[in-house]
Amino acid sequence: MVQGRDDVLGIDASILMSPKVWEASGHLKSFTDPLIECESCHSRWRSTEIETENCPKCGGKLGEPRMFNLMFKTFMGSVEEQANMIYLRPETAQGIFINFTNVVNTSRKKLPLGIAQIGKSFRNEITPGNFIFRTREFEQMEMEYFVKPGTDDEWFDYWLKERFNWYINLGINPENLRLREHSKDELAHYAKACYDVEYLFPMGWSELEGIANRGDYDLTKHADYSGRDFSYYDRETDTRYIPFAIEPSAGVDRSLLAFLLDAYHEEEIQGENRVVLRFHPTLAPIKVAVLPLSRKENLTTLAKDIHKQLCNNFTTHYDDSQSIGRRYRRQDETGTPFCVTVDFQSLEDNQVTIRERDSLAQIRIPIKDLDHTLNAKLTGEAFTTTPLWETQQK
Ligand code: GAP
Repeated sequence: MVQGRDDVLGIDASILMSPKVWEASGHLKSFTDPLIECESCHSRWRSTEIETENCPKCGGKLGEPRMFNLMFKTFMGSVEEQANMIYLRPETAQGIFINFTNVVNTSRKKLPLGIAQIGKSFRNEITPGNFIFRTREFEQMEMEYFVKPGTDDEWFDYWLKERFNWYINLGINPENLRLREHSKDELAHYAKACYDVEYLFPMGWSELEGIANRGDYDLTKHADYSGRDFSYYDRETDTRYIPFAIEPSAGVDRSLLAFLLDAYHEEEIQGENRVVLRFHPTLAPIKVAVLPLSRKENLTTLAKDIHKQLCNNFTTHYDDSQSIGRRYRRQDETGTPFCVTVDFQSLEDNQVTIRERDSLAQIRIPIKDLDHTLNAKLTGEAFTTTPLWETQQK
C-alpha cells in the first residue's frame, strides 16, 4: 500500500493532538454510542445489543439510553482541569488530514495522492470482546487518498476492488469475504458512500475494514476551525480546490484474527495429526527455520553459520532441541513456510534440505544458493522447473 506505490506516502502523526482537531472533525459532539444500564445489576450495554426490554444478563429493568462519548480523556500539563483536557486519538485518520498541506508541500507530489499511516487508536468501548475483535486499544491502518472532485466516484470503485483483493492476495478464502454497502441511514454524516469489507468470523459476518468517500468534509472543517488554508493548487488546470478523500480504514487486529482463522488447519499425515498455519509467506512471522539433524557439534556449528547468513535477509529461527519430527511440527504450528535441515551429508557436500510447509516436498540445494532460492520461493517468483541443485550436478 505504501512502499510498493509511488502515489502513496506514509506518515506517523501524533496520538495526542489539540482538542480542536476533535471539535473540527465532529468527534467531540458525535463520536458516541447509546449506552443502556440495567437498574438491577448495573451492567452496561450498547443499544444494538439489546433485543428485548429487559437486561440480557439478569432480566432486570433497563434505564433510558444515554449518549456516551467513546474518546479517552487525559490532561495536558500538571493541572487537571477542564481547560487542559485532551483526548487519545480514536482514529489515525485525523492526523492525516491535519498534515495534508505539510505532506503536499514537502513531498512535491501531485494529486491523486494517498497519505497512509498505521498506529494505535483508543476507544472507550462499552462492550469489548470476541477475543481481539473489539478492544479499547487497537491498531489501525488508514489511508486518505486525495483526488480532484469529480474523479472521486471512479477512485472510490478502484479502492473498493484494491482493498478487497488485498485480503485475497494475502491468502483469505474469497468465500469468507464480502463487500457490504452501507444503507442511507447507516452512512456517517461526512460520507458520500461507504462499504464495509466483512469477514465470516465464528460469530458471523463482521466488519474488517470500512471504505468511505468522505468528500471534502474533513479538510473543509479543519480549514474552518484552524483558519488555515487546506486547498490544493492544481498546476495542470491552473485551479485551486479542496480535494476529496477516499478512505480505506482497516483494523490490524481484526485482520490478524481473520488471517489466523483462515490459516488454521488440522490434517492427518501418516496417521498423525498435524496442526498447521498456512500463512501467506509475507505474513508468516518466521520465514525460515534452521534445524541441525542432531546436536553433534560439527552439525550445530554449520547450522549456526547458516542461521547467521540467512538472518540478514529473513526472519530466521534456529532450533536444535528435541527430535527433528517435533521441531517440524512446531514450525508448522507457527506457520513457518520453510525449514532448512542440516544433516551429516551436508558436512561432505555443502548441501542442505529445504522442506516446504504446505506440500511437505523436500529439495536439496547447495548452501551458497540458499538466500537466492528462499527469496525466490518467499516472493512467489516462478521456481525453475529443474531445481538449482540438479542443474549444478549435471
Ligand atoms: N477513520 C474511520 C474509522 O475509524 P471505523 O469503522 O470506526 O472507521 C475502522 O474503524 C476500522 O478500525 C474498523 O473496520 C475495525 O477494523 C477497526 N476498529 C474500530 N474499532 C475497533 C476496536 N474497538 N477494536 C479493534 N478494531 C477496531
